[in-house]
Amino acid sequence: MKRLVALTAAAFLSLPLAPAIATPAGTPGAPGAGDPYFPGQGNGGYDAARYDLTLDYDPSSGRLSGLARISARATQALSRFNLDLVDTLTVRSVTVDGRRATHAQSGSELVVTPARTLRRGRDFSITVRYDGLPAHVIDPDGSMDGWIKTGDGVFNANEPQGAMTWYPGNHHMTDKAAYRFTVTVPRDRVAVANGDLVAKVSKGGRTTYVWNSREPMASYLATVSIGRFDLTDRRIGGYRVTTAVDPTVQAPGFPERHPPVLDFFTGLFGPYPFSSTGGIVDNAPEVGYALETQTRPIYPRAPSESLLAHELAHQWFGNSVTPTLWRDIWLNEGFATYSEWLWADKLGTQTVQAAFDEAYARPAEDEFWQSPPADPGGPENLFHAPVYDRGAMTLHALRLEVGDDAFFAILRAWAGRHKYGNADTAAFVALSERVSGEQLDTLFDAWLFKPGKPAM
Ligand code: ARG
Ligand code: ZN
Repeated sequence: MKRLVALTAAAFLSLPLAPAIATPAGTPGAPGAGDPYFPGQGNGGYDAARYDLTLDYDPSSGRLSGLARISARATQALSRFNLDLVDTLTVRSVTVDGRRATHAQSGSELVVTPARTLRRGRDFSITVRYDGLPAHVIDPDGSMDGWIKTGDGVFNANEPQGAMTWYPGNHHMTDKAAYRFTVTVPRDRVAVANGDLVAKVSKGGRTTYVWNSREPMASYLATVSIGRFDLTDRRIGGYRVTTAVDPTVQAPGFPERHPPVLDFFTGLFGPYPFSSTGGIVDNAPEVGYALETQTRPIYPRAPSESLLAHELAHQWFGNSVTPTLWRDIWLNEGFATYSEWLWADKLGTQTVQAAFDEAYARPAEDEFWQSPPADPGGPENLFHAPVYDRGAMTLHALRLEVGDDAFFAILRAWAGRHKYGNADTAAFVALSERVSGEQLDTLFDAWLFKPGKPAM
């Protein structure tokens, strides 16, 4: 059968063809995914399925050399497409399906023109060879983001836009993909990434770490963090717990702290969505925030119980179920903050109601109440207090309205229905109404969309 097809194709190709059939007209893919907060982020015309990143990093010179192999599918007849990569890194060569492609770099856009147009629906592979001295960028809110150098390596956190500082890709959260990382560092350093540690090989003073992240991941959740770390990889309480702790930080019992939190959230939200867990504890006080990097959050110091719970709750809310636009970030931060309240309640530190009351006690004139969580107003406000605290208060107001059974059924349905996908605020409102059987637009309007302190 196969041979017949091959013969037929060969016979067909040997016929003189009209040029219009030989090269179907394609158009360039869009240079952005259409997110108003970061218009250049992501690209149109294709869907990335898999990244295979081979990186070599020398912390003393700060030099990175990379080979990115990307498997993708064309979503339109594609004459040209973009990847996101800062131009402080130099692209040496690009191939598409093994053939040399032309490329041009401008700002954070890498424009690739394949030798011939890619037909719509076609799977294709891209390779990009690049190198240079990666550096972090500064976000609209003033935070360091991306390849953040530390005394002994790299604190690599990429929300919302740092991924472009160290590898080429389709860097909007709507294009999730599987990843494999093969990272070579000096022998006295450790390279820790997302997913499962599959190999560690030392040779000639250098060590290569291979990590496989099989569940779909948005690029802002990828990490390759490097430093002097104590690396442990153990099964504890039914989880594969892989941790990397900077030896200058005191974090006693760090691996063992994960299963109780994950068990508690599993009971409330449904099964833990990933094949492994753990965390990276660095000594990076200059960074000032932690990030829920997929399977393995990164912390700039030893995390408190509430921070640990926050980043682990993000594995369900943010990582498995991911927003569609940055504007919907309360779906991550409001849920993770509410989960902190749930965990504190479980530990007996503070009840959820007391946490709500404390947040709600802010006076009505307070600037805090002027910003509705589902419309933070711009990228400089993505991580400001209303997104976190008023987002969490929204969930508590919903719980008081529909009752515990319906409320936790909503959270489980949200995590279950959109597992590994993307969903927006409108979908959450619709799901809440469907599961509870109640009309909730007044509640959500007051809590999510309108400025001013909602009445209770
Ligand atoms: N998502 C992180 C958290 O849960 C915060 C990331 C902040 N990033 C930033 N660029 N300000 O706390
Ligand atoms: Zn968070």
